[in-house]
Amino acid sequence: MNQDDLKRAVAAAAIEYVPADCIVGVGTGSTANFFIDELAKIKHRIRGAVASSEASAKRLKGHGIEVLSLNDAGDLPVYVDGADEITRHMHMIKGGGGALTREKIVAAASKKFICVCDESKLVDVLGNFPLPIEVIPMARSSVARQLVALGGQPALREGFTTDNGNLILDVRGLKIMNPVELESTLDHIAGVVTNGLFARRPADVLLLGTASGVKTMTA
Ligand code: A5P
Repeated sequence: MNQDDLKRAVAAAAIEYVPADCIVGVGTGSTANFFIDELAKIKHRIRGAVASSEASAKRLKGHGIEVLSLNDAGDLPVYVDGADEITRHMHMIKGGGGALTREKIVAAASKKFICVCDESKLVDVLGNFPLPIEVIPMARSSVARQLVALGGQPALREGFTTDNGNLILDVRGLKIMNPVELESTLDHIAGVVTNGLFARRPADVLLLGTASGVKTMTA
């Protein structure tokens, strides 16, 4: 089984968590794309989807699935998305694809967060993957200086603008021993829109694709 097979397997398993006749929250990235393809197979059983990025909205619409705004949809029963890293406590780093802000918003509005990952994403401590931080363009340098003061090494994601018209700083070298606390600390830097730590609202269920099958984990 290659990595795509593992992603496809967890995406298929996540369909079990989608209630009939619901509006489903949909994440962003290669694993979320497999989930969208699986969702297309049951599209007659759902009312539609709220997308966490323009890219996911386009893929959903391509399958003929109605895409609603979160304002119209209200709270959602379930959100399905991948992660760049996840721990056994269900804390995550997300935003490798730059969609972290909308992902965090849709996750926050969802009753259940189902994280779908291949086994390479499961880690003991977060931080090997550079932490993405979405910043307002005029605050890029001042935010970067404050990240350096916290011990990080921020790098501007070159040539990239988020769906919200902002920039991404990818931060290496942060010791993420307490993800809940660091998530709050980073959110309090003026000019930070969202940071890629998803710890205050962790995943509820992790569907992990392994060579021996899909493992279901909870915190
Ligand atoms: C998108 O901004 C990210 O948060 C993705 O959810 C994350 O990068 C996982 O993507 P893959 O499924 O492509 O690894």
